[in-house]
Amino acid sequence: EFCKGVNGLDKVILRESRGSSAEVYLYGAHVTSWKNDHGEELLFLSSKAVFKPPKAIRGGIPICFPQFGGLGTLDQHGFARNRLWSIDDDPPPFPTNTLSKAFVDLILKTSEEDSKNWPHSFEYRLRIALGPGGDLMLTSRIRNTNSEGKPFSFTFAYHTYFSVSDISEVRVEGLETLDYLDNLQNKERFTEQGDALTFESEVDKIYLSTPTKIAIIDHEKKRTFVVRKDGLPDAVVWNPWDKKAKAMADFGDDEYKYMLCVEAAAIEKPITLKPGEEWKGRLELSAVPSSYCSGQ
Ligand code: BG6
Repeated sequence: EFCKGVNGLDKVILRESRGSSAEVYLYGAHVTSWKNDHGEELLFLSSKAVFKPPKAIRGGIPICFPQFGGLGTLDQHGFARNRLWSIDDDPPPFPTNTLSKAFVDLILKTSEEDSKNWPHSFEYRLRIALGPGGDLMLTSRIRNTNSEGKPFSFTFAYHTYFSVSDISEVRVEGLETLDYLDNLQNKERFTEQGDALTFESEVDKIYLSTPTKIAIIDHEKKRTFVVRKDGLPDAVVWNPWDKKAKAMADFGDDEYKYMLCVEAAAIEKPITLKPGEEWKGRLELSAVPSSYCSGQ
């Protein structure tokens, strides 16, 4: 289903037969909503989000490409999240063993403007699909389309903002004992001690070489988000907390309580593609009642 969203921007709504849904803006190929079959919103979207190019939308799932972070000549988190993507009207079919019918393929290619700062030819296909159980699946395929034999490298993240009922009641499992780079301490490397992560102040860490499965447990909501990722070794955990929240114009002062970013990423070791080569990075999100998870 194709329609107009905020400020007349084009969006696609995916609906799955049991009632779950997702909304995707062509601007940024940005997933702004993912609802379960009870119609409950699972992603955080700021009430102050600006739906106006060239500003990236605050919340949902921004795509960070071809760069995570703010180094070098590229904009913070790259340009993919503030470009207009196009829909592929004739996408390649799903493998026959997948049941999903609710999906859309969005495409971004090299533009003259972007090649000034990032002089490479690429084609990026992002498939966004809803599984039969309401799972949200994002598959990125990035190809080097340069014919002159030039490789390129990039870093990447699915900058997912999960909606939580109270950040101080949230626990993240799957990152304990791992090494991380702390963005709040000059990207210095540390090792996470102890048990599951909990939150009582600003956090901005890049966990390295993580397991493919991470769980975000929302005690108050009795809901667990399960993040499964493939081709994405790292995971960023970010919450701006009160001070930084106040400093962000497109983020409410108290909204840090209701969100947590857990971002499947490839950052420490950039991906390099030779001409003709393709990289694939997959993210699968599910939301299940917490009781279902206990004892697993
Ligand atoms: C996180 C980074 O992924 O994104 C943070 O680790 C950054 O350092 C945050 O502040 C938000 O970035 P932006 O560009 O969307 O404001």
